[in-house]
Amino acid sequence: MCCVTTARRPASISSPTTTWDIILPFIAKARRPPVSSLPNFPNQAIADAKLLHTSAITLAISDSACDSVFAAIELARRHDTLVSFDTNLRLKLWPLSRARAIIHEVARSVDLCLPSLDEARLLTGLHEAEAIVDFYLNLGVKEVVLKLGSEGAMYANAHQRWQVKGHRVDTVDATGAGDCFSGAFLTQYLSGCSPERALDYANAAAALTTKGYGAVKPIPSRQEVEHFIKTITR
Ligand SMILES: Nc1ncnc2c1ncn2[C@@H]1O[C@H](COP(=O)(O)OP(=O)(O)O)[C@@H](O)[C@H]1O
Ligand SMILES: [Mg+2]
Repeated sequence: MCCVTTARRPASISSPTTTWDIILPFIAKARRPPVSSLPNFPNQAIADAKLLHTSAITLAISDSACDSVFAAIELARRHDTLVSFDTNLRLKLWPLSRARAIIHEVARSVDLCLPSLDEARLLTGLHEAEAIVDFYLNLGVKEVVLKLGSEGAMYANAHQRWQVKGHRVDTVDATGAGDCFSGAFLTQYLSGCSPERALDYANAAAALTTKGYGAVKPIPSRQEVEHFIKTITR
């Protein structure tokens, strides 16, 4: 993300270690134009989209990426674009205290939040799935989809909640299972499926993705997911 500043060092100051050297970056930052006014910000795409999906990894990688996420969410809200959020916690990118503060703040303004159990335990300090789901609903999230690893997943809104069991498959690598789950749930949800059906579909798709190595190659096709669901419900 590019940064434009109008702040100038006064000509009379030439030492490389003056107070100005310390203060100027802060002034520059404060004078940055809003992220959404930058030429490469996808204002129209966000306004026209059905859904804006974002991940806490984007919040963690840099200040400008984090600012962009907040700006994108604000824009989405103005245009009635749904917002979903995967709390993907990567502690190599930021400390837990900062991750907590920012992830909770983002969660306050999203429609759907899709945390996974292990990371949500760290983020909330809570242990039980039910309590974690309540935590996010209390923050203001309208729908929570909690991923439970090999144990499946849980869906909750203000009125109802239910859990699906994980599928017993020949798992070799769960890398990317959460992202596959989120993508599968959201595409079903957007195509008009009930949350119940979207949860079943995502739980099946994510289980299948654990049968291969890597995050992208083992993602199953729609046909493979539907075939799997038919086979296990026969
Ligand atoms: N060993 C497994 N067997 C079957 N399904 C799994 C397994 N691991 C993950 N899944 C599926 O993938 C989803 C996401 O996995 P999870 O590990 O909870 O998320 P994340 O990758 O975001 O930490 C789970 O909700 C479940 O549907
Ligand atoms: Mg994840």
